[in-house]
Amino acid sequence: MLFLAGATTNNPGEVFPSGWQSLSPVISAGNIEGRTFRIVDRNSSLRIVSNYSNMMEEYGMELTKAVLERKSIRAFLPTPVSREAIVRATELCRWAPSWGNTQPWEIVIADGDKCRTLADRFYEEGRRGAPPRPNIEMPIEFSDVYKRRYMDLGRALLTHMGIERDDKDARIQHYLNMYRFFGAPCVAYFIIDGKLNEPYSCLDIGSIATTFCYAALQEGLGTIYLAASMHFPDIVKSVLEIPADKKVVIGIAVGYPDDSKPAATFRSDRDSVDQILRFA
Ligand SMILES: Cc1cc2nc3c(=O)[nH]c(=O)nc-3n(C[C@H](O)[C@H](O)[C@H](O)COP(=O)(O)O)c2cc1C
Repeated sequence: MLFLAGATTNNPGEVFPSGWQSLSPVISAGNIEGRTFRIVDRNSSLRIVSNYSNMMEEYGMELTKAVLERKSIRAFLPTPVSREAIVRATELCRWAPSWGNTQPWEIVIADGDKCRTLADRFYEEGRRGAPPRPNIEMPIEFSDVYKRRYMDLGRALLTHMGIERDDKDARIQHYLNMYRFFGAPCVAYFIIDGKLNEPYSCLDIGSIATTFCYAALQEGLGTIYLAASMHFPDIVKSVLEIPADKKVVIGIAVGYPDDSKPAATFRSDRDSVDQILRFA
């Protein structure tokens, strides 16, 4: 088994995040017009693996495909998301594991006018500089390696979007755009009962919410977890008629990616297996 490593990850069409593995021996590798390719021996027939779709052929498994294909989308088309698709995604994601099978989750969907109202009200809060008042405590700042990864992400994303470092207005607009859910016509809110033990229930919410992202992908939908979407839970509760004693853990924006925008094609990086795995 050989590694396909060393390719860049943030160019549209570039498809070899470091650490991706080839199941077949790599015979040769190179670069044509800036695009990386690998020639692999697949069952004694040579194939060129140069883009995402034929890499999928190479990798085959549906699960691998879903995991590698999902990415956070930061530019959506206004095309509405059908409620049938959301129901099918929920049908699948409800099989996610939870502590003691307690399934401590509710999913409340904001679409149509409700989503537009939330986007307008969140944007307004952001525009007037209102500090976030989330139900679930959020990290205020990161240190050490976490800070490095956080800063790397911000730098790579803004560069990919063509936003200059000192273009403060464009940066502010990007952050305000989060409050419009990056144009998504639908947000899935993951809610817990206020009586529940919060840290542990949040593990369970992470479990179902990520499974929801994969299930939505299967419907052809893009997603992004949005901390920004839970900054003002009082607004979420009033617009979506959620009882005051529930807690809004996270919102996931859902919709069709606007692939004409760089914000929909950005790929984040990951540290390598060596950096995160240790056999004790
Ligand atoms: C709990 C959580 C909250 C997030 N909130 C935001 C957010 O408010 N704005 C944003 O642009 N991305 C947000 N993200 C997306 C992360 O930046 C993204 O998952 C990470 O950079 C990895 O990239 P990928 O999802 O494309 O693989 C959030 C992700 C998680 C898990």
